[in-house]
Amino acid sequence: MTVGTGPTQAEGQSFFEAVGGHPTFSGIVRSFYDGVAGDPVLGPMYPAEDMDGAVERLTLFLEQYWGGPTTYSDRRGHPRLRMRHAAFHVNPEARDHWLSLMRAAVEGSGLSPLHQATLLDYLERAAHSMINTFEPTPKR
Ligand code: HEM
Repeated sequence: MTVGTGPTQAEGQSFFEAVGGHPTFSGIVRSFYDGVAGDPVLGPMYPAEDMDGAVERLTLFLEQYWGGPTTYSDRRGHPRLRMRHAAFHVNPEARDHWLSLMRAAVEGSGLSPLHQATLLDYLERAAHSMINTFEPTPKR
């Protein structure tokens, strides 16, 4: 999926700015990752020794997508998110767990209902597009 730059608002202010900039995105992603570590499906997929790095990568990506600084691409190049997820077992169960943690994080963010709905609409579509297998979650 193409995820270079996100929508900007009519009056010239980006969504990134409208929702409060870096503290907002970093808060949502931290809260999401707090849930990942203890999640039976997602926990084993993420690098336990580099959760701070993972928080930073997702935060920078979302900030860039929503019109904030382009630090993500400066550091990591083109997002190519489907390709970057090819190494992970992203089946519908993993997507559902990912989305339910992300939904809780967005709902706990204190953003207006419209801003929450805008974010979640994008995250839901992006999560569906990340599915790369229908094989069951591997037993560990
Ligand atoms: C559908 C379920 C998903 C699963 C199971 C999943 C899983 C993962 C895992 C295991 C990583 C590696 C963590 C790291 O070291 O950074 C990762 C990275 C990442 N994910 Fe996901 N992900 C999902 C959906 C999404 C969605 C919807 C987005 C974007 C809206 C996204 C954006 C990213 C980004 C930006 C990275 C870091 C890529 C990099 O620069 O290396 N993921 N994901």
